[in-house]
Amino acid sequence: MHVLVTGGAGYIGSHTCLSLLESGMDVTVIDNFCNSSPEALQRVQSLTGRSIRVIEADVRDAEALETVFSGPRIDAVIHFAGLKAVGESVAKPMLYYDNNVAGTFTLLQAMQRANVSTLVFSSSATVYGDPAPEHLPLKETAPCGITHSPYATSKWTVERCLADLHAAQPEWRIARLRYFNPVGAHSSGRIGENPSGTPNNLMPFVSQVACGARPKLSIFGDDYPTHDGTGVRDYIHVMDLAEGHVATLKYLASHPQGELLTLNLGTGQGCSVLDVVKTFETASGRPVPYEIVPRRPGDVPAYYADPSQAQKLLHWRATRSLRDMCADTWRWQAANPQGYDHR
Ligand code: NAD
Ligand code: UD1
Repeated sequence: MHVLVTGGAGYIGSHTCLSLLESGMDVTVIDNFCNSSPEALQRVQSLTGRSIRVIEADVRDAEALETVFSGPRIDAVIHFAGLKAVGESVAKPMLYYDNNVAGTFTLLQAMQRANVSTLVFSSSATVYGDPAPEHLPLKETAPCGITHSPYATSKWTVERCLADLHAAQPEWRIARLRYFNPVGAHSSGRIGENPSGTPNNLMPFVSQVACGARPKLSIFGDDYPTHDGTGVRDYIHVMDLAEGHVATLKYLASHPQGELLTLNLGTGQGCSVLDVVKTFETASGRPVPYEIVPRRPGDVPAYYADPSQAQKLLHWRATRSLRDMCADTWRWQAANPQGYDHR
């Protein structure tokens, strides 16, 4: 199978490219490198001993897509390319709708022209909004679409459009994968998350504190109705997530009559901020100083997946522990304190 991976140089994309290559698939990447480095793909190639066709272009560029699809036959597309910073999306909604929604439309049109109708789309647990406690763990059937940011709206809009496309053309094979909180890195420590500037997300912040690049972590609230008062999330190792994409492609390939899948990719385990801090300290052997500060606006107390549907259909499950997530993040952080670009 030859897979086109949009945004393949990014955090989840690079780990997924590695899993695809290791499972024998061929990979073409299209990426404009607006939030990534070509070095990630160099390292994926050296780790796997296999080559990737890399095209530097924007998914909103219809001509560039035409060129991609007129090369070697593409069997399926995994669409990671998009912007993901929730706060930035509030400040720049049009940028997010253009990249995430219009970018997906341009891609779908190019796929239609090229007669490629197998797509895996990166959605997010953010489509569940602020889930009521009785909906935990979250099943795919939980209420969706009451979104709290343009980023979330962009994901929900694309999910809806893909459902409409499948209803009109049921021969399409589409998977809408709702990721919970991806963290960790490949166990080699050669590829990992490479945030620019101050990280918004917990795990990269914790690892920068552990290595001394930042003095302390601010924990946003300790008065939530959770086991220790800090926010609870479903952290999933990025390699488990990557392997979930390979399993999804195999599932879609075995459904030639068409399919519309909507699946949570998570572990089903809720971990608090303090659970993460303590596990990281043990895994790294480094202290993670912190202070409790007020809640971050827009944060929800707790959400975690019911991953049973993905387990049943894909014969896939997340196997790596929070300890593995922390140890692998630390190995990557310690070996690449400046990420990819400054070595
Ligand atoms: P990332 O920023 O590391 O990767 C995205 C990649 O897409 C980058 O390489 C970037 O350069 C590229 N890109 C962005 N806009 C592009 C465009 N218009 N044309 C071509 N390339 C473009 O992000 P990630 O964490 O790997 O996330 C991948 C996908 O998964 C995104 O769609 C994101 O919204 C979704 N997602 C991520 C998370 C998470 O926590 N990381 C959670 C849920 C969903
Ligand atoms: C955030 C996004 C979500 C996105 C996800 C990607 C928001 C509101 N939501 O989710 O849309 O899909 O990232 O993984 O931005 N925390 C701290 N201190 C920090 C950072 C985080 O205490 O410096 C806490 C948060 O309050 C939360 C937990 O850690 O309880 C996880 O936060 P984060 O990694 O930002 O992920 P989410 O908020 O779940």
